[in-house]
Amino acid sequence: MTSTKAPSGEVVLEAVGLTKHFPVRRRLRQILRKEHDAVHAVDDVHLTLRRGRVVALVGESGSGKSTVARLLAQLYPRTGGDIRLHGASTRVKGGRPFREYAARVQMIFQDPFASLNPVHTIRYHLTRALKIHGNAGSTADELEAALHDLLTRVSLTPPERYLDKFPHELSGGQRQRVAIARALGARPEALLADEPVSMLDVSIRLGVLNLLRDLKERLNLAILYITHDIASARYFADETLVMYAGRMVEGGDSETVTQAPAHPYTRLLIDSAPDPDRLTGDAGALEEDRGNGEPPSLIKPPSGCRFHPRCPAAMPRCSTDRPVPLEIGDAPGHWAACWLYDKAEAA
Ligand SMILES: Nc1ncnc2c1ncn2[C@@H]1O[C@H](COP(=O)(O)OP(=O)(O)OP(=O)(O)O)[C@@H](O)[C@H]1O
Ligand SMILES: [Mg+2]
Repeated sequence: MTSTKAPSGEVVLEAVGLTKHFPVRRRLRQILRKEHDAVHAVDDVHLTLRRGRVVALVGESGSGKSTVARLLAQLYPRTGGDIRLHGASTRVKGGRPFREYAARVQMIFQDPFASLNPVHTIRYHLTRALKIHGNAGSTADELEAALHDLLTRVSLTPPERYLDKFPHELSGGQRQRVAIARALGARPEALLADEPVSMLDVSIRLGVLNLLRDLKERLNLAILYITHDIASARYFADETLVMYAGRMVEGGDSETVTQAPAHPYTRLLIDSAPDPDRLTGDAGALEEDRGNGEPPSLIKPPSGCRFHPRCPAAMPRCSTDRPVPLEIGDAPGHWAACWLYDKAEAA
């Protein structure tokens, strides 16, 4: 159904130095002093989505993950940096250019109930998506076949059992499958999935992740998978990027980042995730968080490394110099923005 001929690994979408600052409402005193406060939600983010690959974006609440996805979906204008679709800088704002962009880059949200209109049937939602993107065929039979195809793709079979149901008649997992089917109605190249399973029962999460993996393979989709859960990134994503307070702090292949994390923040994330294989260590990890687990202000973010106030390994320069991405050297492509890995420092 999608153009699966494109070679796997082909770059679809790139963020280059992507930045978003949300202005904060100013008080009179600030207006008089010409102060412009802003929430530094996303700063200088680089990422690349390729066909047939999943990139996970991991970080705690408020680190800027959803803002990255919304920027990539062109739902907000960016403050700085670039978004490239097949290498071409793209900035779209509503109307037809937005529809054309959305035909290639689709978003899936956390809450499938909020994203489906309760007064409309599944048939209505899917038909609308197919029509907007010109994929509904030209006859009623072709439309019916396209609807069946979409529901079959997401394993809601037999399709006729679901087509005329309303969202509230389905389970959470089934609703998320409908939201995925609707995104596929555009025949996209990239899916931006913002915590697609975090509102679902633990028992059905794996089924939905496996569905996304199957779609990635069969339709050769590029997927951005946003999650709090670094363990699921290991399972599902080829590459993992870790974000802290609006900045990328570590990246590499998922196995390396989750099994041999380099950045102290990534280590903290992994140590504080419940892991049935590990019975001790959690308390120790939390004690090491010098900031008592408090995320920093994004209006006046900490200078230097934004993690330094919480970092158990902070050195003097961490509070003044912004760390650059440094190669770790244990696996190709593994990097961390952390002065601990500065060879000059170590020498
Ligand atoms: N429209 C907005 N206006 C002002 N500030 C915003 C807006 N959207 C997000 N923010 C702020 O930007 C920062 C990043 O928010 P974002 O929703 O991207 O985080 P997140 O990593 O997705 O968090 P969560 O895991 O809770 O979903 C937060 O401090 C948030 O308050
Ligand atoms: Mg979010």
